[in-house]
Amino acid sequence: MWQATWLYLYLTWIRPMIKWLLRKILGTCELQRICRGYGGAARTKRVEKSLKLSKYQVLYVFWNFQCTVLQEITHGGAECDVDQTVQGIIQIKGVSQQKDPQFAPSLRGCLVQIRGYQELIHEVEGVRAEAYSSDNQEHENMLLQLWDHLMPDTSLESRITKQWGDIGFQGDDPRTDFRGMGMLGLHNLFFFADQQTELARQVLQHSHHPQYGYSFAIVGINITSLTYSLLVRGKLRTHFYNFPSPPKLSHFHLLYCEYPHFYNFPSPPKLNHFHLLYCHLLVEFDKFWLAEKPRDVMEFTRIRNKFEKKLLSLLRDDSTVLRGSFVEKGEQS
Ligand SMILES: *[C@@H]1O[C@H](CO)[C@@H](O)[C@H](O)[C@H]1NC(C)=O
Repeated sequence: MWQATWLYLYLTWIRPMIKWLLRKILGTCELQRICRGYGGAARTKRVEKSLKLSKYQVLYVFWNFQCTVLQEITHGGAECDVDQTVQGIIQIKGVSQQKDPQFAPSLRGCLVQIRGYQELIHEVEGVRAEAYSSDNQEHENMLLQLWDHLMPDTSLESRITKQWGDIGFQGDDPRTDFRGMGMLGLHNLFFFADQQTELARQVLQHSHHPQYGYSFAIVGINITSLTYSLLVRGKLRTHFYNFPSPPKLSHFHLLYCEYPHFYNFPSPPKLNHFHLLYCHLLVEFDKFWLAEKPRDVMEFTRIRNKFEKKLLSLLRDDSTVLRGSFVEKGEQS
């Protein structure tokens, strides 16, 4: 009750008053201050929050909604009119473009990323919603190629066979293992085996460890569900808003002068970037698992939860990009 009252007061009186005061004193609006003071995910997240909390929230909602509808009609082909939105915000906020020439391009960069993340969710969701079907030749081919990439020296005796267990599927037909993750699970595994073949074989080999072994494909599908859940919960904004590289705040202005183009026109993340992140997380999970020296696979839930907690704490830091190893050497507890 108290919390609700406080929140109400904050949103309707206190926040607007602080903003009004700052505006009077500094002569800039909140969005301008954010765009000047921050870079990378720190900036984009703050812009997103400011737009959501703004009394012009309608603008944000309308913009997002309009883009989604547009995208549904054209199957992702349409560019949302980011520039029109930027001009709209500049008008509403009365920003002088002469006094603050960097504002429009910075804001534009943020909007591209905010929009790009929403579109990525949309796209990933589409792949997940597609169930594996044995009648679909593309699905079947992808599955068979997954085998060939991982097991180049062994051919499958038949489509339905216990051999699938060698790459960590449960039964004699992998079809039944995809379940909730649908084709997203297969796409992720396939991307890993196809694009990072050596690394994938290495992880597969670890999964055959006599003591710390696990089911490669089943764990792979579970890491798909982890990556997916981080994405839809908005937790991967840190990673993708810093994409493709994290500007360090202290270096930001310097970098900005050298590569203004890069910061003003960040590329929105695409499906392949989701797959890439997945590969990274699967490789990291494999290391994490081995470092934990589990008694048996019954420890999976505990270790997975610990891994997720570690990821979440990394993602709370606005400068994080998930790449490079984050399992420190000798990390065993
Ligand atoms: C992944 O593992 C967790 C923990 O064991 C479990 O709760 C979850 O249902 C699994 N998800 C999938 C898609 O297998």
